[in-house]
Amino acid sequence: MKNILEKAELRRESARMGGGQKRIDAQHSRGKLTARERIEVLLDPGTFEEFDMFVEHRSSDFGMDGSRIPGDGVVTGWGTINGRTIYIFAKDFTVFGGSLSETHAQKIMKIQDMALRMRAPIIGLFDAGGARIQEGVAALGGYGEVFRRNVLASGVIPQISLIMGPCAGGDVYSPAMTDFIFMVRDRSYMFVTGPDVVKTVTNETVTAEELGGAKVHTSKSSVADGAYDNDIEMLLQMRRFMDFLPQNNIDGTPEWPSYDDPNRMDMSLDTLIPENPNMPYDIKELILKVVDEGDFFEIQESFAKNIVTGFARIEGRTVGIVANQPMVLAGVLDADASRKAARFVRFCDGFNIPIITFVDVPGFLPGTAQEYGGLIKHGAKLLFAYSEATVPLVTIITRKAFGGAYDVMASKHIGGDINYAWPSAQIAVMGAKGAVEIIFRSDLDDPQKISERTAEYEERFMSPFVAAERGYIDDVIKPHSTRCRISRALAMLRSKQIEKPWRKHDNLPL
Ligand code: HXC
Repeated sequence: MKNILEKAELRRESARMGGGQKRIDAQHSRGKLTARERIEVLLDPGTFEEFDMFVEHRSSDFGMDGSRIPGDGVVTGWGTINGRTIYIFAKDFTVFGGSLSETHAQKIMKIQDMALRMRAPIIGLFDAGGARIQEGVAALGGYGEVFRRNVLASGVIPQISLIMGPCAGGDVYSPAMTDFIFMVRDRSYMFVTGPDVVKTVTNETVTAEELGGAKVHTSKSSVADGAYDNDIEMLLQMRRFMDFLPQNNIDGTPEWPSYDDPNRMDMSLDTLIPENPNMPYDIKELILKVVDEGDFFEIQESFAKNIVTGFARIEGRTVGIVANQPMVLAGVLDADASRKAARFVRFCDGFNIPIITFVDVPGFLPGTAQEYGGLIKHGAKLLFAYSEATVPLVTIITRKAFGGAYDVMASKHIGGDINYAWPSAQIAVMGAKGAVEIIFRSDLDDPQKISERTAEYEERFMSPFVAAERGYIDDVIKPHSTRCRISRALAMLRSKQIEKPWRKHDNLPL
């Protein structure tokens, strides 16, 4: 028995070496950890249970007969993050460049099936060269099976993709169908076709970083939700991130101990709004002062900065935050901001995470660029997302809520449960200046009259009370009491239930 045990351990040791010491050293020299090292940092110490470490590919074409490496380019299994079960697969770049073969795909599929059966999140770590070129259609078939499982699990369990090296060809579409994508700066890139193919087809000369680096995908394409400087930073932040997420769409949000008094008042909020309504202020200051311990995990921080989205906690329970940002484009809603917030709202709704919306929005952004870019459809995505949401919706209007954007930002009319306004709120069809220039056009030559009319319009409509008189606003609250009022609202809304008519699925404007 001793002999057998020793032999098994030797085999295990050899499998753990992946593509061998030389390739492990090459991985380290590029500033990257190996697949197993990454898993060790991500999961609670000693909790990783590996599956299928002895699986080898079955290909014999192009000399593959003589090169079988146990594990076949992907490390799979499960473990825990702060005690909660997580399924994981990590591409091993030291084995055939982490490329996907038929058996490699089967290992991922096994983990996807288990995660779905056990209703626990799945995290994929990507660092690979796409389809195993020697395997042809067997690899393509493998991708298809993985994609189908991504879709089946969507909205049932959280699916997270971490891009930690190359991610090209077939490898990009599995992450694209998961809930969140995070990238490592300067070391990872994602594209459907690489710089060489781009050069051949479009004659553009572009580097991998310029084509699909973290900067491109977090600030331009919005493919990625965040980026980190290195493997360790990303993996530690992911441990923090996973604490915000529920295990699945049934269990409800996790509850962590909170030492932050839900009734905490913050007097500095009473002076947050500048006297001049056109002066910006930082909405993130409000978010940080309201949520538990100022802990806010921002999603898509570098894209469409005119709207802020992210996770926080109130009384230890996860909430999603959506907030117009007056510091960027005056907090206007444009196509990118609408798309960004719509996807976030849909994630929260799908996983039973209540949404707090802070509103300071001067309207939708006018112009040909926006209209040609489909502002109507993209704006409708956010309207649709809020309107179909059944999770608790708490809305606070801090300043402007103008035009269609008033309706869209979780107003009472589209399903807001609790709608509060600060005394500084201005709820109107448009700003006073624009309104007066339209309805008193004949007085435009008389500055005295125009300024009187503007003051009259401001007095009548630019306050929260016209909306409050109609019950569209439940109360006009003191800014310093915002945290307390939100906590109370969320506690009351915990039993919220909405029955919807049967349908196969909705037809979200895509
Ligand atoms: C087989 C691969 C491979 C692949 C890399 N390797 N990619 N083996 N199939 N797709 C192997 C290399 O041969 C090499 O083996 C080792 O992995 C490391 O690769 P290097 O090229 O030395 O590393 P590096 O210089 O860092 O370049 C990484 C890379 C490059 C940029 C990812 O390897 C690359 O361009 N690979 C091919 C990418 C690609 O075109 N994939 C197919 C996409 S098509 P040795 O033994 O020399 O160490 C696709 C279609 C699916 O995915 C569509 C489904 C919808």
